[in-house]
Amino acid sequence: MKYVIGIDLGTSAVKILLVNQDGEVCQEVSKSYPLIIEKSGYSEQDPEAWVSRTTEGLAELVNNFKGDISEIEGISFSGQMHGLVLLDQNRQVIRNAILWNDTRTTEQCQQIYDVVGKEQLLEITKNPALEGFTLPKLLWVKEYEPNNFVKAKVFMLPKDYLRYRITGNIHMEYSDAAGTLMLNVAKREWSTEILNLFGLSPELCPPLVESHACVGTVSIDFAKSTGLSEATKVFAGGADNACGAIGAGILAEGKTLCSVGTSGVILSYEKRNDLDFDGKVHYFNHSEENTYYTMGVTLAAGYSLSWFKDTFAKEESFDEFLQGVDTVPPGANGLLFTPYLVGERTPHADSNIRASFIGIDASHERKHFARCVLEGITFSLNETIQIFRNNDKKIDSIVSIGGGAKNDIWLQMQADIFDAKIEKLASEQGPGMGAAMLAAFGCGWFSSLKECAENFIQTAKTYYPIKENVETYKKLFTIYQDVYTHTKTLNEQLREFRK
Ligand code: XUL
Repeated sequence: MKYVIGIDLGTSAVKILLVNQDGEVCQEVSKSYPLIIEKSGYSEQDPEAWVSRTTEGLAELVNNFKGDISEIEGISFSGQMHGLVLLDQNRQVIRNAILWNDTRTTEQCQQIYDVVGKEQLLEITKNPALEGFTLPKLLWVKEYEPNNFVKAKVFMLPKDYLRYRITGNIHMEYSDAAGTLMLNVAKREWSTEILNLFGLSPELCPPLVESHACVGTVSIDFAKSTGLSEATKVFAGGADNACGAIGAGILAEGKTLCSVGTSGVILSYEKRNDLDFDGKVHYFNHSEENTYYTMGVTLAAGYSLSWFKDTFAKEESFDEFLQGVDTVPPGANGLLFTPYLVGERTPHADSNIRASFIGIDASHERKHFARCVLEGITFSLNETIQIFRNNDKKIDSIVSIGGGAKNDIWLQMQADIFDAKIEKLASEQGPGMGAAMLAAFGCGWFSSLKECAENFIQTAKTYYPIKENVETYKKLFTIYQDVYTHTKTLNEQLREFRK
């Protein structure tokens, strides 16, 4: 039997999957690492923690592997997007990585609009300037840490740095480069216009490759510390959302994904690179060659639920915590939640907005709050579906993965709120499976990613919208949308009290 490894470098943990030629997951290892939050709005990680935890995880996997090590033919990656890793001339990390969910860069986003112009920015990068993206982070370091900035010789994204430590080679691939605001997304090249406008040297940007490109093999040192073979081929990999999409078979026009991790996304496959969504949704290169995807992001999706559980019921498991939620009717007896714990991206790019519970009354119990948190996250994702539908996209069938696919009540809620058929996969592994599929395709096991998906992915269950619930949620959704407008100014006033 032959095997590949998919490594998903997430925000809270690295998840490593060993997958065989039939697409079966033979082993799964997960190792967590902390977020470093120095101030409200800051979110950093130590890149060394990614490397050491991945090394430990791989060593554990290899130790439990019963076959011949040469049967593990390839490794590839999925990674949290946008995070800025800066290396000096000796390829040493200069400072902690500034992550996708760090929102310190509002000023730099404005600077980008002032210097580039909104229209030109959209034309080149197909995306608006958002705090989470990489260019604003680079400009923040330039402004506030000039000593670090002058030392910087190359910038990398999280999984690209991890891969560099495994192979010794520096590359970036298109799907992750698309989230930097420095790539000309349609032309698939670094944008000299953007780099010139900010006085950034082209040498800061690594060479670009395809996601399934072989970019080296496991270095002697890394082979020693993990037990992997030095012959194991290493493939570039993709952004976590692109890999989540591949792992769910989102590889044809008309296919839509709902993925709930720390953040949540609604993502739709695009063959074309010239559609115009006016920057309302992200428009990125896919990890399948020469294709694209559009997507809206809820910053605190799974995070809203884990925050609520950890704050009010730390000792309970998620299953215990969600008990009784099915006895609460849709709409949680008039209780609404907006999931803006860390600001929001889609449809409101607003780093200052914060979450609300609206309509609390004395009859509400904890189970009502739990249900309305699930509903609020799903309403937020529905905002993206509304944008897609308003742009004439047909969305009647959605593959659901991640935290949102682990619970029957939540899956039915998605069908009812999205008013679409929801498919749950038989063995859902998220972005790690997409990474493994890139390695499988790169190794030549299949003639295309689509062929790989046909062999690896099956639907287990389908949830259909229930008419009565659809009507209830339609009414509630318009009230939900009003909450943003009514709480915007209040949150601006509350800002000075945040520590
Ligand atoms: C996408 C985004 C998040 C991260 C999460 O633009 O910022 O989904 O990729 O890892």
